[in-house]
Order: sequence, then structure tokens, then C-alpha cells
Amino acid sequence: MVSTPLHILVITGSARRGRLSDRVSSFVMQRLARLEGVTAQLADLAAIALPVMEERLGRVDPPPPGLVELGTAIERADAIVIVSPEYNHGYPGVLKNALDYFLPQFKRTPVALVTVSGGGHGGVIAWSQLVPVLVYMGAFVLPQTVAVSKVQDSFAPDGTALEPAYEKRVDGMLAELVWLAGRVRG
Ligand SMILES: Cc1cc2nc3c(=O)[nH]c(=O)nc-3n(C[C@H](O)[C@H](O)[C@H](O)COP(=O)(O)O)c2cc1C
Repeated sequence: MVSTPLHILVITGSARRGRLSDRVSSFVMQRLARLEGVTAQLADLAAIALPVMEERLGRVDPPPPGLVELGTAIERADAIVIVSPEYNHGYPGVLKNALDYFLPQFKRTPVALVTVSGGGHGGVIAWSQLVPVLVYMGAFVLPQTVAVSKVQDSFAPDGTALEPAYEKRVDGMLAELVWLAGRVRG
């Protein structure tokens, strides 16, 4: 029996002009493409450009462009990878703004976090702030995480890892995410 592939959504949580976190999202997409039994989709918050949240999906009429599609993508996903930079010892407002449009869509959804910084500590403070938000929203936050330091030196513009250790780290995290998504799907 051939089972339906697990579908994984990768969300890029940086909308900055000249951003570098999109390199990491590209890398995650490339590693997902190597996995059998997995399909992947990228949601780029820069491209969706949601306005400041006035009400959640389902309560805002008409919904802003892209909101329904993003909500459907989240609901459809068996698991989600959020790639987030660290801004001012937190995660970006554009990501919080997007998350706040949703609540039930994240319930019982496995979520892996990849944090990104230009400095040496890999955005771990952004990670520490994202975890309680996602737990509140009912997501199953994966304990395994990847913290990308010095992103400008670690990844090429096309998403190639210049620091090979990230292949093992991301592959390990994705393996755990796929396992959890399979268990949750049952
Ligand atoms: C507004 C702003 C605040 C930032 N604050 C931090 C920070 O607190 N800690 C950190 O390690 N890097 C910080 N950075 C650097 C980012 O981590 C760096 O830009 C990195 O490339 C990831 O973000 P990006 O996707 O916007 O490029 C900040 C960058 C911006 C634009």
C-alpha cells in the first residue's frame, strides 16, 4: 500500500529587504526534496505581505490577499518548519503578525524551528520566545532545533551550505520532524 506523502510547509519569517534567512529556507527546501515520501511547500511572508492583523482568519471580512491561502497551507501541512531571524533579541514582528491571524490551524501540528543570526549565537533568543507562543497555539514544538550563526558566511545566496555541518544538523532535525508528523497523522 502506498501512503499519501507527508506534506511539510516551510515558512520564511523574514521580510527584510536584503534578508539572508531566505538562504536558509532554500536550504531546508533542498534537504526536504531529498526525502522520499515527503512533499514540501514554501510560504514566504515577504511575498504574502499581510497587513497589520485586525482580526483572525475567519473573523476578518474580506480577508486580506494571501491570508486564506496561507491558512489553507498551514491546515494542509502535516508539519511546519519556521525559519526565523533574531531581531532585537526576539523574533520579527512580521512573523508574530502572521501567527496572530491563526490559532486552530496550528493545533496538533508538529513545528520545527530554525533560527538565524548574523552573529555567533544562532538566534537562540528568538527560539526561546517562539516556543511558548507556538505551545500556546497548540503546536507540537520539536525539541530538535537548528541555530544558524553567521548566516552570511554559512550559506550562499542559492541556499547552498558553505558550512557542511548544517547538512547533518538540518537532516537530523527533519528526520525527527518526519517521524513525529507520521505519528501524529497515525
Ligand atoms: C532589526 C534587526 C535587529 C537585529 N537584531 C539582532 C539580534 O538581536 N541578535 C542577532 O544575533 N542578530 C540581530 N540582527 C541581525 C540578523 O540576525 C541578521 O540580519 C540575519 O541576517 C538574519 O536576519 P535577515 O533574515 O533579516 O537577514 C538584527 C537585524 C535586524 C535587521
